Amino acid sequence: METVVSGIRPTGHLHLGNYFGALKNFIKMQEEHNCYFFIADYHSLTTHPTPEDLHSNIKQVLVEYLAAGIDPEKATIYIQSDLPETAELYLLLNMNAYKGELERCTSFKDMVRKYPDNINAGLLTYPVLMAADVIIHRASKVPVGKDQEQHLEMIRNFASRFNRLYNIDFFPEPYAFNFGDNLVKVPGLDGSGKMGKSEGDKNSVNLADEPDDIRKKVMKAKTDSGPTKDNQTKPDEIQNLFTLMELVSDKSTVKHFDEAYNNCSIRYGDFKKQLAEDMVTFTEPFREKIKELAADNDLITKIAKMGAEKAKESGVTTVKEAREIMGIRNL
Ligand code: TRP
Repeated sequence: METVVSGIRPTGHLHLGNYFGALKNFIKMQEEHNCYFFIADYHSLTTHPTPEDLHSNIKQVLVEYLAAGIDPEKATIYIQSDLPETAELYLLLNMNAYKGELERCTSFKDMVRKYPDNINAGLLTYPVLMAADVIIHRASKVPVGKDQEQHLEMIRNFASRFNRLYNIDFFPEPYAFNFGDNLVKVPGLDGSGKMGKSEGDKNSVNLADEPDDIRKKVMKAKTDSGPTKDNQTKPDEIQNLFTLMELVSDKSTVKHFDEAYNNCSIRYGDFKKQLAEDMVTFTEPFREKIKELAADNDLITKIAKMGAEKAKESGVTTVKEAREIMGIRNL
């Protein structure tokens, strides 16, 4: 059994891309491993959300992850700031994190380019905070995609540097959890790439979306003027819709529209109507559960408290030991 940690940024709703991507794997991992999933509210502060937005997003994200299948009895799901020892470990690690390596980080350079007026210290040291998140539980695995590979490498550097500096084998070096074939790439509705990749959410179908919103979004999805030759290769925007249909519809439905495409009799209006209805059906149990949980504030508070307690059990000891290793000891 491995210790697994992953952070979730409290921005926006869970969409089908999140569900078929990371989430399904989280749900599987919680059965087999010692998992810590946390809502990264400290990290969010780097981009200056309004306090009201941040507060409501944290609750929403917690509700949606629970509704989607994270089980607080099996995994530890907590809010990052409920384990403030994370911030202390971050401070300790910052002493051995260097400006040069932090400035070379691709995600930092992207943020500098995108937001030249907000190049704050929290942004520069974002990977140090991530390192604290992971090694506070002395985790060995982090279930993240390719885009986080550089951060993970930095986390390994910070962990091994600590071990070397203090001549102790204390922090494990964490590696990405390899999902293998399980990581499905879910396309968006706008014909380009990944669901959730572009700004705004008309590209995504969210688990919390109302049926009519799903219908509107799907009907607006980009199509072309239709196939002109039998068995021609589907252009990206059409293939994307078929890929989505394979995720939410019966095999026979996919087959029916695939044949219609191949003999040029497909009517995109019917195709999209069917896709929308199958998405509505697929998301229904999630939508209902989200509403039910969102209305039960006592339950959500109880779950958050339970998560905080479990996170502290593991995190408080690590930070106490790290302080002592570094020389901050009782007189
Ligand atoms: N940076 C991650 C993201 O953008 C979120 C995150 C914060 C995280 N701390 C983490 C992920 C620790 C894995 C481990 O999605």
